[in-house]
Amino acid sequence: MENHNKGQWSSSFGFLMAAIGSAVGLGNLWGFPYKMGMNGGFAFLLLYLILVVLVGFVITTGELALGRRSGKGVVDAFKSIDKKYGFIGWFAWISPLLILGFYCMLGGYCMKYAIANLGDLFGASWGVNGADSGEYFAGFYTDQFQTVLFTVIFILLTVLIVKGGVSGGIEKFTKVAMPALFVMLVIVIIRSVTLPGAAEGIAFMFKPNWEVFQGSGFISVLAAAGGQMFSSLSLGMGITVTYGSYMKKTEDIERNAIIVPLADTIIAIMAGLAVMPAVFASGLDPAGGPGLLFVTLQTVFQAMGGFGPIFGFLLYALVFIAAITSSIALLEAVSSVIMDRELEKNPNADKKSVRNKSVFLVSAIILLEGIFVSVDGLGANGLPQIFGQGCWLDTFDLISEGILMPLGACYMAIILPNAFVDEELTLEGNRFRTRRFYDFCIKFIAPLMMVLVLLGQIDTFFKLGIFG
Ligand code: PHE
Repeated sequence: MENHNKGQWSSSFGFLMAAIGSAVGLGNLWGFPYKMGMNGGFAFLLLYLILVVLVGFVITTGELALGRRSGKGVVDAFKSIDKKYGFIGWFAWISPLLILGFYCMLGGYCMKYAIANLGDLFGASWGVNGADSGEYFAGFYTDQFQTVLFTVIFILLTVLIVKGGVSGGIEKFTKVAMPALFVMLVIVIIRSVTLPGAAEGIAFMFKPNWEVFQGSGFISVLAAAGGQMFSSLSLGMGITVTYGSYMKKTEDIERNAIIVPLADTIIAIMAGLAVMPAVFASGLDPAGGPGLLFVTLQTVFQAMGGFGPIFGFLLYALVFIAAITSSIALLEAVSSVIMDRELEKNPNADKKSVRNKSVFLVSAIILLEGIFVSVDGLGANGLPQIFGQGCWLDTFDLISEGILMPLGACYMAIILPNAFVDEELTLEGNRFRTRRFYDFCIKFIAPLMMVLVLLGQIDTFFKLGIFG
């Protein structure tokens, strides 16, 4: 049931750059360092690595296999197992749709900060100009005109790339953007680890420290690491299924399912190395929470003197690249489901116009969401809130990353027939070397972990204190 109506990756490298680009996002460059900071450093890292092997690898394998086998977007992919499983596909469809609104807003924040650091470099009035980073950030996110503007620009850039198609837009862009991101990250790391006092930050990341495991600490760090692993690898939300559907039958899925999580993890650790040593060198708090990226790091750059704005620009620009290569994946995952619908109704329709129509429809929704979340100003602008959350970003995040994604992935792990995956992985003379490992992890460890992640997320969002 191969269906390449919507496009296909032109090369292995192209697929890898797109898939790694979808995985490497704000989750790695922002979430990973701050969650590591709040969960004891090395202890978190160790659990994270174990989870990537036991859960990340197997779910990536399953999703890629399901996508390629069906050749469809996430809803029809699940229906291809059995009609009654379409609802899991819809779970995985709603999540990226909700995430896109705030993800594009955060991508817009990165653009603003990259530009402001450039302003500082040229001594322009639109720079940060030595303002207190906390006050500067609060001034920006409550400024509705500016946040809406940057969000809209970010959405338009995302749409422009996705409109270009699988190989002509997404692959073409990520093939250049991902290597650029890597080089920029290396430059920032070199600066960070050579700052006086940086060693403490490196020790924080790699020196064994089990104190956080005391009491209910172990479960709580496990749930935090699981949640992070899962969203960082773009699982349970249709992206990996969709990207798998554009793969050639000759591609070795198993090999790719190892490379993508591995690259994502290496970049998350590199992000930690770019951030933690600099934070420690400046005597700031590694557990600074979400403020780490826009407040703590901006303080670090300002303290660096003349070269500070260059590194500031590089860091925010690379986070921007990471964000946009993920937002195009989110948009593609949502749009491909609409494209499937259109092509089903009219199989002979012009592919280009089906893509344009679907992408524009989805982007109209995202524009509304993005504007709404920006106007909310992280809850500071007085909009009414629901579910006891402090801002609409958290509410959208709660429904998607908190509930629908772990639930969907748990279902998938349980219902995806092993025989399906086995068949798909052994096509064209490929071998499925880890079959027994896969069979065991997908049926036992992955569902268990997903339930734990679900509880952990609900615990965090509702501050229930289940895990202490
Ligand atoms: N994996 C990407 C990231 O870590 C995109 C993503 C964001 C996926 C949020 C799921 C949820 O940023």
